Amino acid sequence: MPDGPLLEFIGVSHTYPDGTVALSDIDAAIAAGERVALLGPNGAGKSTLMLHANGVLRATAGEVRVAGVSVTDATVRQARERIGLVFQDPDDQLFMTSVFDDVAFGPQMSGLAMHEVEHRVHEALHAVGLADVASKSSHRLSFGQKKRVALATVLSMRPDVLVLDEPTSNLDPRSRRQMVELLRSLDATLVVATHDMDLAWTLAERAIVLDGGRVVADGPAHEVLQDAALMEAHGLEVPHAARCRS
Ligand SMILES: Nc1ncnc2c1ncn2[C@@H]1O[C@H](COP(=O)(O)OP(=O)(O)O)[C@@H](O)[C@H]1O
Ligand SMILES: [Mg+2]
Repeated sequence: MPDGPLLEFIGVSHTYPDGTVALSDIDAAIAAGERVALLGPNGAGKSTLMLHANGVLRATAGEVRVAGVSVTDATVRQARERIGLVFQDPDDQLFMTSVFDDVAFGPQMSGLAMHEVEHRVHEALHAVGLADVASKSSHRLSFGQKKRVALATVLSMRPDVLVLDEPTSNLDPRSRRQMVELLRSLDATLVVATHDMDLAWTLAERAIVLDGGRVVADGPAHEVLQDAALMEAHGLEVPHAARCRS
């Protein structure tokens, strides 16, 4: 693995075909082992940025680099092996007839032998606490289970960086707690876009705040998240856990 950042956004801008400017000149670099919360109000550009991390969307200006390699048509496949993107809506990720097949899909596509594919599926489902549902249809699972299976479909690729868009959105309190504990248990480089300030507080060492498609803060999570004026200015709030401390 190279010494430099695993994931870099260099002057990334994105304008959607309808003219909406979603990102303007984003610079950020994620190093191995970092856990980064990407915060910002609705429409800030979080999801758009996540979709640039593995080439689902391409920058209209600037560059995304994965392990030092610029993401282009020629390199997007290798970028996707390194950067695992978990969509906000699990129905965008799960499309096979069984949980096993969904989690096996990536490893199969990358040409691994069947015994290795099975090993990966078992490992990933075990990590998300769902080893017992492998033969079920993904569509029969609860929403919380679907969110965890969606994560497993990415873990089975053993990516270098896990990028998750709103992993706790729409979960009931118990499912949310399970997801938070699960994310905390992963020994992975993480970028998590979230509105869940307490998730950011318990999970991340670094917080990047986006608003209006621009980076408005990037620093140690305990500093950024306790900056009440900053949080207020960008439609966020200081996490409960941080307020209890002070
Ligand atoms: N497919 C799209 N076409 C046009 N505009 C879009 C599209 N997706 C998102 N946007 C716009 O881009 C901006 C950033 O959206 P998004 O990345 O979804 O923000 P966030 O995830 O922070 O809520 C918003 O103004 C949103 O309306
Ligand atoms: Mg979003």
